[in-house]
Amino acid sequence: MRHSPQPTSVEITRAGQILRAGGLVAFPTETVYGLGADAWNPAAVKKLYRVKRRPADHPVIVHFAEAKQAFEWARDVPDSARRLADRFWPGPLTLILKRAARAPDFITGGQDNVGVRVPAHPVARQMLAAFGGGVAAPSANRFGSVSPTTASHVLAELGADVDLVLEGGPTEVGIESTILDLSGDAPVVLRPGHISKSELERELGIPVAEKSAASPRHSGGLERHYAPHTPARLVPTHELDREIEKLKEKVAVLAFSRPDERVDFWLRMPRDAQAYAKRLYAALRELDSAGCEAILIETPPDRPEWAAVLDRLRRACG
Ligand code: TXA
Ligand code: MG
Repeated sequence: MRHSPQPTSVEITRAGQILRAGGLVAFPTETVYGLGADAWNPAAVKKLYRVKRRPADHPVIVHFAEAKQAFEWARDVPDSARRLADRFWPGPLTLILKRAARAPDFITGGQDNVGVRVPAHPVARQMLAAFGGGVAAPSANRFGSVSPTTASHVLAELGADVDLVLEGGPTEVGIESTILDLSGDAPVVLRPGHISKSELERELGIPVAEKSAASPRHSGGLERHYAPHTPARLVPTHELDREIEKLKEKVAVLAFSRPDERVDFWLRMPRDAQAYAKRLYAALRELDSAGCEAILIETPPDRPEWAAVLDRLRRACG
């Protein structure tokens, strides 16, 4: 396994070769790092699921260099999908569409739809162009844990199980893409992200719903997901002081205010939702490694711009 400081064209070519040979390449996207495999190669995808420790019936997103290719993996592509692709791709948006015959069962979890995305990170784009086809890629972490936002997170968690990790610096968005299901009668957000429900509504000119129990199965929808190993809980701002006062256990705190001297591990977070998202997973990893009994997280404001962060925090707290 090799780890390059900055992928050269040689490294990118090698990534393409590894993918073609059925290997695994971890790569940066603008959201989080992905663990990529040739989406057409059953053995490669099997290896991907094994390394990820993901159940075989969970679908995986397929990544492409161009929107045109993504739409070739779908059938009955609605105008809304093309409109959103024109506006938001390359970018942090995944579309769930009815699948075409070329989208194999083993990447759709046996469902009749497929998740496609054209990422914006230049290293991802170069790798996808060098490979030429669809790259199946979940976030490059073990099933259920926090997504990686740096190459060293990937190395620490997956290390020798990956054939190559492409370096792309800390990711810009910091949380996973917005997932929009366009396979049904009306658009439904399955996972909130950097591209908000209102931005999607503005572009489509119709209301966009949020996930209900009837929506297609997806592992990001499990209650406890994106979670640190240390038990975490959300604490409203006005209760934070009281919680700290009565503490007996050794805790870590993620909060907006300045560090409190009664607490050993305190990370101060930005008050801007996008800056918070960018910092979140590295912060959770840091607090998780502090050896505390619990992580207390100050609840962010209940406003639309915090929807994606709140979603991830609620899951981290299970
Ligand atoms: O930002 C992202 O989306 C990152 C980067 C690497 O692209 N990928 C990512 O993949 O977060 P993953 O597998 O960790 O989360 C994707 C979620 C999963 O919950 C999966 O079950 C769901 O998308 N998903 C994938 N294909 C689907 C489909 N056909 N129908 C419903 N949900 C799907
Ligand atoms: Mg994931």
